[in-house]
Amino acid sequence: MPLASGAYVITGSARGMGLELVTQFLSSGHTVVAASRHAVSSSTLNTLAASQSGERLVILDCDVGSTRSVERFGVEIRKYVSSVDVLINNAGISQELPNEDVSNVQPSSILDHVNINVIGTLLIAQTIAPLFHTGSKMINISSMCASLDLAPRRPIPNVVGYSISKAALNMLTVKQAMFYKDCVVVAVDPGNVKTDMNPDATNSVETVVGSLRKVVEGLSSEDSGSFVSWEGEKLSW
Ligand SMILES: NC(=O)c1ccc[n+]([C@@H]2O[C@H](COP(=O)([O-])OP(=O)(O)OC[C@H]3O[C@@H](n4cnc5c(N)ncnc54)[C@H](OP(=O)(O)O)[C@@H]3O)[C@@H](O)[C@H]2O)c1
Repeated sequence: MPLASGAYVITGSARGMGLELVTQFLSSGHTVVAASRHAVSSSTLNTLAASQSGERLVILDCDVGSTRSVERFGVEIRKYVSSVDVLINNAGISQELPNEDVSNVQPSSILDHVNINVIGTLLIAQTIAPLFHTGSKMINISSMCASLDLAPRRPIPNVVGYSISKAALNMLTVKQAMFYKDCVVVAVDPGNVKTDMNPDATNSVETVVGSLRKVVEGLSSEDSGSFVSWEGEKLSW
């Protein structure tokens, strides 16, 4: 089979926003690489692949918290794909305890969030970047919790490790935008989305991803290094 060019790569793709991103980008005709911890055994992803004509959905295992898993993913993806148009670093965790705040948060909680939400994104970017071309886009899924500017005005209880990790992800995004000068690199806040991570949210995953898809398609070089909302507004760091 010839290698696919211009693929869309999405991490954390077996459920939540990642699965919806895979579904919508496939529907709009793109070749999609769905990466997830248990992607190959995911009945949802395999059912989606079976419903596609052609072979536009590549399903690959990738645990972004494991250097070896990301290395294996880097080898596997090159068996299917010759270039990447869009990388969406969507995989993420939010695992706070109910009464957690800065007075009692465990260092291990902060480290766990940073390991997946920041280092995971860094490793995936390092693996995929050689497949980028001029104009490729890297989208780091961040959060409003990351905003240093808004935090004192919109205090969100708990989520200490998560907020710290997403703020670090925003800095990583700026550094990546400075380094990958031929690409468009942005941090995106998806707002409040009803997923396993945020079951009480009001926005459906279909609505948010539908808007996000348009935002991604519309990004240009002037946007690189910015923090953008799921509706396309520039956000304060
Ligand atoms: N939902 C919201 O309101 C909201 C708001 C702001 C930002 N976000 C961000 O949006 C992104 C998607 O979140 P979601 O709402 O869709 O949450 P979700 O339903 O909990 O999905 C999280 C995804 O990340 C994956 N993941 C976690 N650890 C991973 C690892 N070590 N390696 C690979 N994949 C891993 C999960 O895979 P498994 O299935 O293998 O666990 C799952 O696919 C996250 O970055 C999150 O921080 C969400």
